[in-house]
Parts: sequence; structure tokens; C-alpha cells
Amino acid sequence: MPRIFSGIQPSGELHIGNYLGAIKNWVALQSQYESIFCVVDYHAITLTYAPAALRRRTREMAVSLLATGIDPAHCTLFVQSRVPEHTELQWIFNTITPLGELERQVAFKEKSARQEQVMAGILNYPVLQAADILLYLADLVPVGEDQVQHLELSRVVARNWNARFAPEGQPYFPEPQAKLTPTRRIVGLDGNAKMSKSLGNTIGLLEPPDDIWAKLRPAVTDPARVKKTDPGNPDQCPVIFELHKAFSPPATVAEVDAKCRGAGWGCVDCKKVLFEHMNAELTPIRTRAQALAEQPRLVDDALDAGAEKARVIARQTMTHVKEQMGLA
Ligand code: TRP
Repeated sequence: MPRIFSGIQPSGELHIGNYLGAIKNWVALQSQYESIFCVVDYHAITLTYAPAALRRRTREMAVSLLATGIDPAHCTLFVQSRVPEHTELQWIFNTITPLGELERQVAFKEKSARQEQVMAGILNYPVLQAADILLYLADLVPVGEDQVQHLELSRVVARNWNARFAPEGQPYFPEPQAKLTPTRRIVGLDGNAKMSKSLGNTIGLLEPPDDIWAKLRPAVTDPARVKKTDPGNPDQCPVIFELHKAFSPPATVAEVDAKCRGAGWGCVDCKKVLFEHMNAELTPIRTRAQALAEQPRLVDDALDAGAEKARVIARQTMTHVKEQMGLA
């Protein structure tokens, strides 16, 4: 079975954009691949943060992942900093990664432009990501479009290491490929291209239904529909129609399309239907998250066991890497 690896930062709440864009896909993939999923707390410290908040968010992310159906019986789920081989391999990879490759990363340019003083960790961020993936010799990496360039760098790192330290014709590290998430990026409730907590346009995965409705009700729709009797075009309704496609069954999506074009429903009617379907999917997730929050031992045990499973592979890789490099 091919092996997949993916990571998610414990930054901020898990919102339905992350859920539809990444996590829901992971849940489906865990039964088709040998899957390793990681809460990447070492990546999260590359931008200014509060230690207590990081601890809480790492925990919340693990709880949310478990609640959505990431199942430790079918995959490996762990927190990055519990497996020290990630940073050990990163140091090694720093010595074979050309500086120019790091400087031309778009994510680096964007993040560093916003900083007064740029720390080396932001530059070396993708090297740690390469270490995450290659430590497990993963073939595929389920990610969104924004990670494609980081994945390219992971392949450069794999190739460089193989060229220097693997016997000719017997590459050790596979060149990992991005497995792009099928869901389109979910836009913010305000119509902004990105759903992001810092923009205040998200719906939290675990938010109570009343709060979800309070956010859905005023969310932007097709501007042509001023009055209920004005016919609309679902393709001009980037938020609600996309959420219907994500949460409602195909028959409902078809009905939404017809009732919007024919002005059979007002936008609030349409949002009510969406709200019902969102609740159907999100209520069980909320219930499981609540149960897990009340049983911290269960979560601790799952993460401990996950880190142990990950370390078995990580240690093997490091043993081989160090042998080949004259470090052991
Ligand atoms: N950089 C990724 C992001 O921001 C997170 C990440 C870290 C990751 N390590 C990874 C994703 C390894 C896939 C594989 O989304």
C-alpha cells in the first residue's frame, strides 16, 4: 500500500474551510493508504505565538481530528515535536538544500514581507516539511494548491540526498508527489477568496448551531437578488452555493440551482436548507469532540501511541541516513 503523509498546523481554530479542504479528505484516504497524519507544532512556532495558546491549540487540533473520524486504528496520528527525528533530519537536510531554492519560495516571500525581522526558521520552514515527509519515505502528500511549491522542494531535497549518499541507481528517498485535495477552496462568508480566522469570515468546525446560523444568515449571496422575486444565478453565489455542494446531497444541489434561477426560494430559504444539511454532518463531529474533551486520557493515550508508531519508522530512517553519511 502506498504511504501518505500530511501535516496541519495547530494555528487557530479548525474551521469548515480546513475541514472541507483537507481533513475530510484525510478521513477518506486513511482506509485507502497507509496514512500518517501530524499536528506540526514545530512549524507553528516560526511566527510569533503565545506558548499557552500553542499548547491549547495543539490539543484542540488533535481532538478535532479525532472527532472528524481520523481513526488511530486505521492511521498514525501524532504531534510533530514528540518525534525528535523530524528536527534531526531537518538539520541534515539543511546541509544539502540550496539557499536559492528557499529564497524563491512564495510562502517565504509573503511571510517575510510582513516581518520587521526575519528569523531563519521562516526560511527553513520547507526543509522541516521535507523532513516530515521523507522521514516516513512517503510517496504521496495530500495537500492544497498552496503547498505545491513546498512539495517541489521536498523532491529537490530527496534528489540531492540520493545523489550524494545513496548508491548509484538505488535512490533511498522517494520523490513525494502532491495529492491535490479535490474540494475547491472554500471562500469566506464575506466573499473574500480565503476563509481565515484572522479575516473573521469563518465558521468554526465545532461552533454551536445558533452561532453558525447567525453567521450564515448575513453571508453574501448573488448581488442580483435584491428582492426575493429577483431571479439569481448560483454561479454568482460563491459562498452559499459552494457550501451546498460540500454539505448537501446532489438532489438538493440541483433543487437549489433551480429555485435560485427561478426565484422559487429567497436566499434565506436557501440558507435554511443549507443549515439543516450542515447540522446533519457537523452535529456528530461536535458530539464526539465534546466527549473527547471530557476524556483527556483517551486523547493523551492516542497521541502517545501515535508518536510511538511514528518513531519506529523514524528511527529506522535515521539509522540508515546516519550510516550512509558517516554519522554512525
Ligand atoms: N506547510 C503545511 C501547511 O501550512 C503544513 C505541513 C507541515 C505539511 N509539514 C507538512 C503538509 C508535511 C504536508 C506534509 O499547510
